[in-house]
Amino acid sequence: MSNKLWGGRFQQQADALVDSFGASISFDQLMADEDIEGSLAHVKMLGKTGILTHEDVSQIVAGLEEIQQDLHAGKLKFTNDNEDIHMNIEKILTDRIGPVAGKLHTARSRNDQVATDFHLYLKKRLPKIIAEIKTLQTTLVQMAEANVETVMPGYTHLQHAQPISYGHYLMAYYQMLKRDKERFEFNQKHTDMLPLGAAALAGTTFPIDRQFTAQELGFEEVYANSLDAVSDRDFALEFLSNSSILMMHLSRFCEEISMWVSYEFQYLTLSDEYATGSSIMPQKKNPDMAELIRGKSGRIYGDLMGLLATMKSLPLAYNKDLQEDKEGVFDAVKTLMPALRVFNGMLKTLKVNKERMKHSTEHDLSNATELADYLAAKGVPFREAHGIVGRLVLNCIQTKRDLQDLSLEELQAASPVIKNDVYEELVPEVAVKRRNSEGGTGFEQVKKQIANAKQELKK
Ligand code: ARG
Repeated sequence: MSNKLWGGRFQQQADALVDSFGASISFDQLMADEDIEGSLAHVKMLGKTGILTHEDVSQIVAGLEEIQQDLHAGKLKFTNDNEDIHMNIEKILTDRIGPVAGKLHTARSRNDQVATDFHLYLKKRLPKIIAEIKTLQTTLVQMAEANVETVMPGYTHLQHAQPISYGHYLMAYYQMLKRDKERFEFNQKHTDMLPLGAAALAGTTFPIDRQFTAQELGFEEVYANSLDAVSDRDFALEFLSNSSILMMHLSRFCEEISMWVSYEFQYLTLSDEYATGSSIMPQKKNPDMAELIRGKSGRIYGDLMGLLATMKSLPLAYNKDLQEDKEGVFDAVKTLMPALRVFNGMLKTLKVNKERMKHSTEHDLSNATELADYLAAKGVPFREAHGIVGRLVLNCIQTKRDLQDLSLEELQAASPVIKNDVYEELVPEVAVKRRNSEGGTGFEQVKKQIANAKQELKK
């Protein structure tokens, strides 16, 4: 006879490898708290509906509460023999209060139990992640506010394109994070659903009260379909997908930070607190944190891909494959939180080399569009203006000059509509300031964006 909680129909013990290969306790013990909370709510519901006597319920509740205290005190010991967190807790309860513990699993299956634990686990962590994103947004707004008029090269194809405000650049990431935050907020809706009561897959003959359990556990709603309840992992996929997109945003920013602290750029300087040295080259100051966040984004994509692949083709309802759903999510949570915090600290202590940024916009011909716009504003068709300026740019390249170095005679030879007021518009700072279209890099627009952001952050 098997000694398992489910051992009744077995004549032999499971092979030792089956026990260790099938066990999930090494990782699902992270949900021990949630498992106990779920059981407490479930057994209270069993009492409320009269499925169990109040006597039984109070014994089970007292036992579970004691286990909860021991868990928090680090006194619980889990074993592979009991496979997973659900059976470990039940076994401990049985050891402590005797056979009445066996009544806890009335009208419940591990299938709805594990799904409930997993929902609870994520439901608790999402607000923390959302709060970290908000902190990061706040940092970005503060930095942007201090850099509205800091002029830097804007790039396309990694080539100098047009000068922009560094504040505008920072606010671009603010906007991405705003959507990231919204995605996690939406994720809360799908996490805030209670699977418990679905039992193994089909519901139960007992007169359970799922609304009561949902209320006890603070769930907004209950799953409407028992098959869906035990086999849905969308909420976890959403989480991993949202995490991947968030990390992708951080990773892009980290890539730019890594470039911009390099000798070639020197736009930014990392604080010593957020940089590392080399074991061989004494002069080195490496952007390890930026690189590591960039690297860890790959790891989180892996977590997403892993679960997507696990879920593909899974027939309804529960399959043991679903045990593979947790580690990637745990890993993503464990990675995301410190990544957000380190990133925030790195940003907050970053020094901006404003002069260097500005200097890079002064001799890079990135005011060519200004000149083309100047001509177009005076009635020259833009395509024609583009050609005229293109030829002037070529002249500048050949004679090693900037557009602002060309004499008025030279400019007028290219187009007679050009007047002396053109030079003012060729100054990078003026070029930035004048891009005042909605959402543009013009200082006024950036200030507006910042003001809106501050309102949003108050919510
Ligand atoms: N450890 C299992 C998991 O994580 C719990 C559910 C087991 N259910 C079952 N029918 N074998 O998925």
